[in-house]
Amino acid sequence: MKDLKTIILAAGKGTRFKSDLPKVLHCVAGRPAIDHVLDVAKALGSLRTYVVVGHKANEVRKVIGSRAEVVIQKRLLGTADAVRSCAPHFRQARGTVLVMCGDTPLLDKAVVRRLVQAHHKAKAACTVLSAVLSEPHGYGRIIRDASGSFVAIREEKDASPSEKMVREINTGVYCFDAALLFSSISKIRVNPKKKEFYLTDIIELFLSRHRTVRAVVTEDWTANIGINTRADLALCERICRERILKKLMSCGVTIVDPATTYVEQDVRIGRDTIIYPCSYIHRDVQVGKGCSIGPFARLRPGTRLGAGVAVGNFTEVSRSTLGPGVTMKHFSFLGDARVGAGSNIGCGTVTANYDGKNKNRTVIGPKAFIGSDAVIVAPARIGAGAVLGAGSVLTANRSVPPGGVAVGVPARTIKRVKKNG
Ligand code: UD1
Ligand code: CA
Repeated sequence: MKDLKTIILAAGKGTRFKSDLPKVLHCVAGRPAIDHVLDVAKALGSLRTYVVVGHKANEVRKVIGSRAEVVIQKRLLGTADAVRSCAPHFRQARGTVLVMCGDTPLLDKAVVRRLVQAHHKAKAACTVLSAVLSEPHGYGRIIRDASGSFVAIREEKDASPSEKMVREINTGVYCFDAALLFSSISKIRVNPKKKEFYLTDIIELFLSRHRTVRAVVTEDWTANIGINTRADLALCERICRERILKKLMSCGVTIVDPATTYVEQDVRIGRDTIIYPCSYIHRDVQVGKGCSIGPFARLRPGTRLGAGVAVGNFTEVSRSTLGPGVTMKHFSFLGDARVGAGSNIGCGTVTANYDGKNKNRTVIGPKAFIGSDAVIVAPARIGAGAVLGAGSVLTANRSVPPGGVAVGVPARTIKRVKKNG
């Protein structure tokens, strides 16, 4: 996408959300809502991305980091004012500006890409992404004349009864000719009812100057869903989750019950892995081929499972790497651990990785056998082929040598594993 810049509006208070945390920082599929919108800008090759912030600006800025430039909107005077606050960055602007809202995590990059393409093709001053809803209440309506030409966007509060019947709505995603946008934006007048400057009023302004404006309808009914309320947040979460699970299944992962399987974004799962019901896989997890997960398993960020790993019921793995063929079938917790290929983690094994101040590591070699109900107080090391007896407590800074057999509380090495041939 040549010469494309993006403005993401995220200064609003989010009053209906009733939260101390800025609305755009609430997570959908394990990532802040605004991250999903930043992803779209990145996927489209946006040369520069500006996020307009106001309410709790510093908190939003921290999350955005270096992924976009932050622009402060000093007073929340409406969507046109938010765009106008980016004007200093668009002196002698050329090219195209994409405007999106920071609270619409379901925006699909393919849908937005088609909008930008349609905008370029029509050589329009502005192209609006619209959608046809069965319940358009609350959205700005796309007003067309008798010939079907797009003539205005009317906000709910300003709409006449017949305009309120219109089901085609403004999703809040727009493409603009950069030069025309910034030479016109300050000409928008304040809305007398809401005392705000509406970006949507730019349509009539452009038309009065004989500029081309277009509204392109998307079939994607989710494009407009903003997280205005907690109920919206739950809806977005469900739709996003369904998309993730569908994609995994199309890549050869078996999901026994999608209704009770939760997989966040940034998760990679190899083919022929089976995920049993009531399992939760957080972001930043990688699972190899042919694994068996759950039922009732939780894989937390930083988990890496090699091929053929079995993680069964009531298990939790966090920031740990399990080599190929490791089995951990029941009631266990591994945190900050590395487990070598083919080891068995017995029922009820726990790594005590937190000493109240620090998280400590556990290293278990390949083909080790950890008996049921063992507690490994980290930092600890268990060598290749070693055995830790059932009910043992391996205390901190202790180790079991390769091939050693350790038992008891505290666990002591008593012998070597017998070599049977
Ligand atoms: C807006 C559109 C409406 C559209 C809807 C789609 C206008 C006037 N209306 O309405 O046509 O159907 O989005 O969701 O634009 N914001 C700022 N600064 C402000 C005000 C808002 O940055 O001063 C940001 C908000 O954080 C939000 C976005 O702009 O991300 C949209 O604002 P919001 O107040 O939610 O507009 P809507 O009433 O939903
Ligand atoms: Ca909104």
